[in-house]
Amino acid sequence: MQPPPNPPSNLIDGRAIAAQLHAETAQRVAALRSRGVQPGLVFVRVGEDPASRVYVGMKERMSAKLGLNSTTRVLPESTSETELLALIAQLNSDPAVHGILVQAPLPKHMRQEVVYASVLPQKDVDGFHPLNVGKLLLGDRTGFRSCTPAGVQELLIRSQVCTEGAEVVILGRGEIVGKPMAAILCQKDRHANSTVTICHSRTRDIAAHCRRADILIAAMGVPEFVRGNMVKPGAVVIDVGVNRVADPAAPEGSRLVGDVAFAEVQPVAGKITPNPGGVGPMTIAVLMQNTVRAAEMAVS
Ligand code: GUN
Repeated sequence: MQPPPNPPSNLIDGRAIAAQLHAETAQRVAALRSRGVQPGLVFVRVGEDPASRVYVGMKERMSAKLGLNSTTRVLPESTSETELLALIAQLNSDPAVHGILVQAPLPKHMRQEVVYASVLPQKDVDGFHPLNVGKLLLGDRTGFRSCTPAGVQELLIRSQVCTEGAEVVILGRGEIVGKPMAAILCQKDRHANSTVTICHSRTRDIAAHCRRADILIAAMGVPEFVRGNMVKPGAVVIDVGVNRVADPAAPEGSRLVGDVAFAEVQPVAGKITPNPGGVGPMTIAVLMQNTVRAAEMAVS
């Protein structure tokens, strides 16, 4: 007798969707290379933050796999802001470098906004330069969009989640995810057109906001903050959080969890991102797309 079929999964498979994007990007890399152009991407990492080391390593491996010319410049924690700005100026003027990514967080003695404003906007594949942030808000698609929120939008599109008229609740107002996510989904665009609420540390009764969300995007950095009773049945739940929590039973004494209590929320949600394997791969996929577009624009 045949075993019963598995119940339909409500998981949004970020790895599979990122693989689709990578396949598209690889074709564009091949087209550039046939014209004698290899997209160049430089990662700049300051200090030895363990999470940043892992993230930059993952991004660099994917760049190599797609045939980009990527290098990582590692500077000591003691580097001055002036020294970092000098390196960025050198990369800005190097025609073989199409994209520059300065990994956040930066050491406390550096002014993040000054550093990000020093990257040439046309090489700012992270989408953190004020010009690109402004273009995002204006709905001007000639700029670069921050990779994680752009990746979340792509996940929603490719998972057939309709955002038009949807109540979207975003938890977190950070510059990297929360704010640009809101800017993307409130645009007048068929893949946006949402009614967006941003909740943050001063919001009264976050749970009440969460419960009316059709799409709930958790990006506040609080381990397993979203519980099952905070989610409207059938809602789409996107977990952007990556939090390291102590766990004496884990081999390293700690483990990673998202901002969503997955085991409780999955049975309530209509669709949900696993974590890992949801948003993370999409961030990298958009970074690769942005870099290839930077190279295409540089030679067009
Ligand atoms: N740190 C966490 N997310 C990001 C990102 O998307 N870009 C950079 N540069 N740093 C990060």
